[in-house]
Amino acid sequence: MIEFSQVSKTYPNGQTALQDISFRLPTGRMAFLTGPSGAGKSTLLKLIPQIERPSSGKVLIHGSDISRLAGCRSPYLRRRIGLICQSPLLLV
Ligand SMILES: Nc1ncnc2c1ncn2[C@@H]1O[C@H](COP(=O)(O)OP(=O)(O)O)[C@@H](O)[C@H]1O
Ligand SMILES: [Mg+2]
Repeated sequence: MIEFSQVSKTYPNGQTALQDISFRLPTGRMAFLTGPSGAGKSTLLKLIPQIERPSSGKVLIHGSDISRLAGCRSPYLRRRIGLICQSPLLLV
């Protein structure tokens, strides 16, 4: 259902958050993402609903490579993903 293939993410300031990440999370499987502060957890999660884009590699959701998805298609992708933010700032 969610698959990362050799995903790397470097922010515009040159900070590399993820380097060569590959994993596959099948439908119905529950997973925990743990690691110290700055390990890249938030960056990894942001790549799934296209809050951020990978610098290289593939992010597949239900078999489709969303790294190639046009920005105008993001809302349709997000409708299929449930995301609860740690610090929702919707009222600010
Ligand atoms: N928007 C950003 N611009 C530049 N660097 C960032 C940005 N967001 C995160 N980083 C950097 O990327 C690395 C991973 O951060 P992050 O994904 O927030 O880790 P975690 O959620 O595990 O604490 C850190 O070095 C962080 O400083
Ligand atoms: Mg975080």
